[in-house]
Amino acid sequence: MKIFLTALAASLLILGCSKKDENSSSSPSKSKEKVFVMIPKGVHPYYEPCYEGFKDAGAKYGVKTEYLAAKAFEVPQEVEIIENVIARHVDGIAISALDDQGLVPAIEEATKAGIKVITFDAPAPSSKALTYIGTMNEAAGYSGAEELIKIMNGEGEVAVLQGGLGAPNLNDRFKGFERCLREKAPNIRIVAREDEQGKIDITVNKTEALIQAHPNLKAIFGVSAEVCPGAAAALKQQGKEGKVILAGFDDLPDTLAGIRGDVVNFCIAQRTYKMGWLSVEKLLEAMDNKPLPKEIDTGVLIITKANVDTYMQEMKKEFAK
Ligand code: BGC
Repeated sequence: MKIFLTALAASLLILGCSKKDENSSSSPSKSKEKVFVMIPKGVHPYYEPCYEGFKDAGAKYGVKTEYLAAKAFEVPQEVEIIENVIARHVDGIAISALDDQGLVPAIEEATKAGIKVITFDAPAPSSKALTYIGTMNEAAGYSGAEELIKIMNGEGEVAVLQGGLGAPNLNDRFKGFERCLREKAPNIRIVAREDEQGKIDITVNKTEALIQAHPNLKAIFGVSAEVCPGAAAALKQQGKEGKVILAGFDDLPDTLAGIRGDVVNFCIAQRTYKMGWLSVEKLLEAMDNKPLPKEIDTGVLIITKANVDTYMQEMKKEFAK
């Protein structure tokens, strides 16, 4: 067993995996303890509160929780992590899907091995995952556009930045965003949609290029978490902060700082802690053979300067200990 675990640790290292291991016990008497693994798309601060919720719920229900993140947002790396945890016979997997079709075989293999698999944050609708827990992405993209239309006064050029073009959650957001503009603001034109692979440095470079290529650019909208921090940094460097409207998904600390400092107009906060917490509860229900709904909406909140300092208390009330 020890040799196997060492081999596994080595292979995770090769993958560049980051592993947080909490609520664990090495005592052999606890060897029957349930083990649930959270697999994000890759290393990214967005997933920290997701794992906080997962870990806290694990502590409450006596489940050992683990977090295994590939270094880059790459489908083969996510698949390899699933295969590793299948080999270890874990009890449950909560995965944020980087891709739909690309994960179908691995999720099927896990299911056949008797492991309960659910998706959180990003669904894999073609797979055998038992449920999806997270934002209703198309609706959230639509709401983002509605908010942006008001700030843009219904006209002008907007560019969209997206962290990976394969994930259904991000594509659904874009779909809702685009549909809303078509329906409610035909005078707003999407002049670019760029992939920044979930990386801040690429977001900075892409933002600079967008500003060069589109001198009349009125707004930038981010469908993933790194966009507001990365684009805010680029706008500041170019002296364009507050001159180009910036908004998008998620409430990373730099995005909130951007809202306080008038560089970011608004953000759409997802209920990440809740996604992690519910993932443990739903995996436990699945292990008890209870039927799960196809999807569970965790809801979003629009954050502006008006509620940036108070929304977190509201979000946390639900889980007050
Ligand atoms: C998405 C995640 C993504 C993260 C970082 C979030 O908006 O919900 O799926 O991994 O941004 O790109």
